[in-house]
Amino acid sequence: MGRQFFVGGNWKCNGTTDDVKKIVSFLNGADVPSEDVVEVVVSPPFVFLGLVKSLLRSDFGVAAQNCWVRKGGAFTGEISAEMLVNLNIPWVILGHSERRLILNESDEFVSDKVAYALSLGLKVIACVGETLEQRESGSTMAIVSAQTKAIAEKVSNWDNIVLAYEPVWAIGTGKVATPAQAQEVHFELRKWLKENVGHEVAASVRIIYGGSVNGANCKELAVQPDVDGFLVGGASLKPEFIDIIKSAT
Ligand code: G3P
Repeated sequence: MGRQFFVGGNWKCNGTTDDVKKIVSFLNGADVPSEDVVEVVVSPPFVFLGLVKSLLRSDFGVAAQNCWVRKGGAFTGEISAEMLVNLNIPWVILGHSERRLILNESDEFVSDKVAYALSLGLKVIACVGETLEQRESGSTMAIVSAQTKAIAEKVSNWDNIVLAYEPVWAIGTGKVATPAQAQEVHFELRKWLKENVGHEVAASVRIIYGGSVNGANCKELAVQPDVDGFLVGGASLKPEFIDIIKSAT
């Protein structure tokens, strides 16, 4: 089944108004494959969502980097899913390892967030991934399948989910997973979905890779049969993000 390639740019906690205008400028000027070949979604910090939404080319999507776990209210500092809907922000990244590890977001908390965001019609990039210690102890698949299981227990419709496998040891380290390492986990995740959710979902869900993707290593990763795209951090702030978009297969 041909899955539309997906390239997400996670800007993380970076940028000024001028930086945002510069990035959007090179994105708007880029000659990239059509939307039916590759779906592109950029994710600025909350404070720049409106600005990016107002300036960005219409064939690229916009995502928030997080949202609150239930309806808004007395949750100081949080941004609700309702607010994203109100701002016409269609996507949200949830469960990023930086939030799981730094802010102690549990598998349960992440899966509740995914379910709530989906219930409001948002599309979700749901992140899973193991630490170096977990990989070295041979528990990679136990970890990422448990993270995926927590989501599967609360989600019945996977149409609006993109699953991002981001090995923590590859994030921001320059130590990208090898194509074989990425393919192995993506294959096993798709197998898990087939066995625990269903064949159709397993065949159609895009499983994207994140962790030190750049203009030089994206092509050999993109050709892996179960790698359906990327979630890019540091390189998404640079013009080489266009090369990564062009690696769409
Ligand atoms: O969400 C994507 C991010 O975690 C990957 O970061 O800088 O290793 O591409 P980076």
